Amino acid sequence: MGLGKWYEEHVVPRFIQCACSSPVIMQLREKVVPLASGKVFEIGCGGGINQQFYDAGKVTSFSGMDPSAKGLEFTREAVAAKGWQADVRQGFGEAIPFPDESFDCVVCTFTLCSVESQAQTLKELRRILKPGGRLLYAEHGKAPDASVQKWQNRIEPVWKRLAGGCHLTRPIGSPIADAGFQLHVLGQRYAPKTPKFAGWMEWGEAVKAG
Ligand SMILES: C[S@@+](CC[C@H](N)C(=O)[O-])C[C@H]1O[C@@H](n2cnc3c(N)ncnc32)[C@H](O)[C@@H]1O
Repeated sequence: MGLGKWYEEHVVPRFIQCACSSPVIMQLREKVVPLASGKVFEIGCGGGINQQFYDAGKVTSFSGMDPSAKGLEFTREAVAAKGWQADVRQGFGEAIPFPDESFDCVVCTFTLCSVESQAQTLKELRRILKPGGRLLYAEHGKAPDASVQKWQNRIEPVWKRLAGGCHLTRPIGSPIADAGFQLHVLGQRYAPKTPKFAGWMEWGEAVKAG
């Protein structure tokens, strides 16, 4: 195994586990993940950090997908600690192996920054949702201020390589709306105690429109 592949498979999942468990990020998860109900699918479920926030009284089944084998190991540990049944699979958001209209709710936290194609992943998430189904999201992305955007553009090429393909400059709300969701923004802000280039956060609930 080359150094690059070893870094991707072993260092990145641990780095993500650490960066994505900061108190600020955990507070955001707490605002969004407990809203999930019914048949739930989580895209980018690697790491399993969201497991602790699901309300087992509201979720009737849980499925999740992530391409990272190491990330999924952490997820399976978190599923076991929660003590519920879960269908957790390795795969990409761009090609989700579930039939149309399978789920009441999709959860997507800090994943649209990393997928290869946001548009294709959102198309798939919309496809697997039942009519009126909800996409719960919390993401970091393109900041509203030009001075911050300048730094995001500068840092992104290096950041992407270190952080498992994570982008800093992707807009959050507009691609979700463009994919055919009605957007209900629950909040947006710079996360405290976080460098602004990585700190613009948006979270909300998007309903499958049409
Ligand atoms: C920053 S981590 C966030 C992990 C988790 N969603 C969370 O909230 O802690 C980004 C995740 O996206 C996953 N990912 C990368 N490319 C993906 C793709 N094409 N489809 C689905 N997940 C992907 C990574 O493996 C990683 O687990």
